[in-house]
Amino acid sequence: MLNRRQLFQFAGVATVAGAGGAAWMYYGSGRFNGLAGGPFRHYPFDPVAAANFQQKLFIPVGSGPFGVLDVAGPLKIRATAASFPLLPGPKSQLPSPFLLYQTEQAGKAYQNPIFRIESGARFTASLDNALQEPTIIHWHGLHTPAAMDGHPASTIGPGGRYAYDFTVRNRGGTYWYHTHAHELTAEQAYHGLASFFLVEDDDQRSLSKALDLQLGVTDLPLVIQDKQFDAQGNLLYKPSAHEAMMGWLGDIVLANLTPNAVQTVTPRTYRLRLLNGSNARIYRLAFVKEKTALNFTVIGTDGGLIERPETVTEAFLAPGERLDVLFDAGQAQAGEGIFLRSLAFDAMENEGPAGGMSGMGGMGMGRMMASMSSSRLPLGLEFNVLKLSVTAGERVVAKLPATLSQVKPIRTEGAAQRKIELSMGQMRFLINGRSFRMDEIAFDVKRGAVEIWSISNPTLGMPHPMHNHGFSYQVLERIGSPPQVAAMARFGQGRTVSDLGWKDTVLVWPGETVRVALDFAHDFPGDQTYVFHCHNLEHEDAGMMINFRVQG
Ligand code: C2O
Ligand code: CU
Ligand code: CU
Repeated sequence: MLNRRQLFQFAGVATVAGAGGAAWMYYGSGRFNGLAGGPFRHYPFDPVAAANFQQKLFIPVGSGPFGVLDVAGPLKIRATAASFPLLPGPKSQLPSPFLLYQTEQAGKAYQNPIFRIESGARFTASLDNALQEPTIIHWHGLHTPAAMDGHPASTIGPGGRYAYDFTVRNRGGTYWYHTHAHELTAEQAYHGLASFFLVEDDDQRSLSKALDLQLGVTDLPLVIQDKQFDAQGNLLYKPSAHEAMMGWLGDIVLANLTPNAVQTVTPRTYRLRLLNGSNARIYRLAFVKEKTALNFTVIGTDGGLIERPETVTEAFLAPGERLDVLFDAGQAQAGEGIFLRSLAFDAMENEGPAGGMSGMGGMGMGRMMASMSSSRLPLGLEFNVLKLSVTAGERVVAKLPATLSQVKPIRTEGAAQRKIELSMGQMRFLINGRSFRMDEIAFDVKRGAVEIWSISNPTLGMPHPMHNHGFSYQVLERIGSPPQVAAMARFGQGRTVSDLGWKDTVLVWPGETVRVALDFAHDFPGDQTYVFHCHNLEHEDAGMMINFRVQG
């Protein structure tokens, strides 16, 4: 059987016209069936229907698309328009227009490579913009000088080149990289410009050794994304004014770009490096057998391993966040299926008179918003992400190490307190009342300062995953959490498992204040300007972002 790698044809956009000739209709009639709430069900690739999960999960290999590239010297990266097979058609995968990062090393070609590099090593790369529009790469979660960070001001035009050269200062962990083109991030990331950036260190190696894990076999990077497609199987991105304001939701859910994916597993422990690479969708993840949510063990979050393995049955994962988990597939018998599922939750979208949008009468704002979405999969609906199909095999029971790593708490005595208030006005979301302006610095912090940021979201708003460039933080406390979050707050100070360890993105629900600690110690010369923004990419592009400057 052909795998996706063999099917991949890197022949540029021209391929698409030919393959598009197979005018196979994916959809029944009308796309806008969402009125009055109920999703239109039973379309091909509907992720609610468990029976649809029959497509073999794409797992990255040594080269080609999403190939694992062990960085061994300077790289030339080219951002380019291409095509990529996403949905299966009547005969094979149909390529959709797609944007890719191409590169090569040691004679092997890669597209959207999964970079793997040792902590402390040097990363040198040039980015050539072969797109028809501006772009830039941001290394999400990496602690780099501002000039290496992919700030929107670094955006280069078509034909332009940007040179990156930095030391990987981060500890081992599951980071990622993606476009940060000024006001084009959402559209470009949606069309493909994103992949993993894995950092290795001793803690990571001892974990792999203790659990006998192998990248691409039992240690699986898994990016979860929701997309919409047109009748030809091409990616569709056409946000209405409302969707541009709220965030673009898909209705076909891709795991490693595979819709309705299934992966065969033996009764042993797997590491899944979960990345929410969606533009706007939040997932409430659980591993479900029949109707039971099974145990899984969180071992890491955004910035690498947490101190101890923590066993839970569910966790929220917002756009930009990572959750490194261990799952024991031996919790099911051979022949059984387990679903990585997003459970139902209250989307808490604009419930009430936010930002002058009052007077909607009996129709709740959330419901009104859902009816204005072109997605058949409203935020908060339950659906499946990936099926794990358990086969016979040797039962291996993992002995989890008691300690995974050390997370030294940031010392916050005497730390400066800073208020970050999220709000809405003029149909856009704001930070401290501001919308992004390239030339405006919202505030300065001092090199070496420790600060506590209290990020508050009004009750009448929507959830925002707030992301910081340059410096990671530690979540100190969650205050005023809605019941569905409070129910998961088993880790002190209202924190959930997703809040542990080093974080660069934290989900702030309506009515919540999340307090995070930051340490601005660094050894880069001079002032450094970074952005802090919402990782709902439509919010980011609409200006839910500020500059802050670390004074040298
Ligand atoms: Cu992953 Cu500024 O973003
Ligand atoms: Cu980032
Ligand atoms: Cu937001």
